[in-house]
Amino acid sequence: APDISLTEVQGHVSALQQIADANGGNRAVGTPGYQRSLDYVKGRLEAAGLSTTVQQVPTSRGTTYNLVAEVPGSDPNGVVMLGSHLDGATAGPGINDNASGTAGVLETALTYAASGEKPRNTLRFAFWGAEEIGLVGSSYYVQSLTSTERSRIKAYVNADMIGSVNPGYFVYDDNPAGTFVRDDLTSLMSAEGVPAEYVDVQGRSDHAAFLRYGIPTGGLYSGGSEPKSAAQANSWGGTAGASFDPCYHRSCDDSSNIDPTALDRHSDVLGGILWKYAGQAFTTSA
Ligand code: PHE
Ligand code: CA
Ligand code: ZN
Ligand code: ZN
Ligand code: ZN
Repeated sequence: APDISLTEVQGHVSALQQIADANGGNRAVGTPGYQRSLDYVKGRLEAAGLSTTVQQVPTSRGTTYNLVAEVPGSDPNGVVMLGSHLDGATAGPGINDNASGTAGVLETALTYAASGEKPRNTLRFAFWGAEEIGLVGSSYYVQSLTSTERSRIKAYVNADMIGSVNPGYFVYDDNPAGTFVRDDLTSLMSAEGVPAEYVDVQGRSDHAAFLRYGIPTGGLYSGGSEPKSAAQANSWGGTAGASFDPCYHRSCDDSSNIDPTALDRHSDVLGGILWKYAGQAFTTSA
């Protein structure tokens, strides 16, 4: 897999910060900041030649939208997905949560499109709405698929908070069907020089709906308001006893609330898993 450019990923993060600044300080479901975030990501995907679909999603705060982009594969029965939520909490601009994951998935999609490669499996990139009010967009998407469409999805990889300032390197470990995804993410993180740690995220992000249908899932997480342990500081650096992300769901979750090295490593792992799964012949019966 080619390198995913940190400079480009940071450019997407800055664009989302500017969108929050120009729209009342947040990018939450039902707000202009959310709509402008969707317009930005959609515009970048389409400029790179990817086809996009906007799905309407009913929520308790009115209609919102999922954005999905695709690169068609040669095998009609294989689909691999990368996803991240595009909405933020109401308290602030939502930069580590989750402009970071949005930027990493977006830049991975743009890098694949620019490569001109033709994948075996269809590559599908999802930007979910209304995660913050109960994983609404991703749940709606998975439920709206037919069982045949669901059975084609061989893996779903989630990115939610991947640039925490006092970073951890966690790989989701809450899906028995997805241990190969967990293991592949861990190997790719070792290739970045970082020992990943498994964490049972208990379905607290957008992979949960896929997990409920037995689809293999995995994901990346650099930590939230919980404190980094001494052992974790020893293996990853940073500050023991301090939160991984001191600005989780707060107004200070702005563009200064990102560790560039963590953002780069996690983005490169997303690139690595996409290229690996693009050409993989999945034999698992999901
Ligand atoms: N989904 C949570 C949020 O957006 C954060 C989270 C990310 C929790 C990853 C667990 C794992 O607020
Ligand atoms: Ca990189
Ligand atoms: Zn989140
Ligand atoms: Zn959140
Ligand atoms: Zn790297």
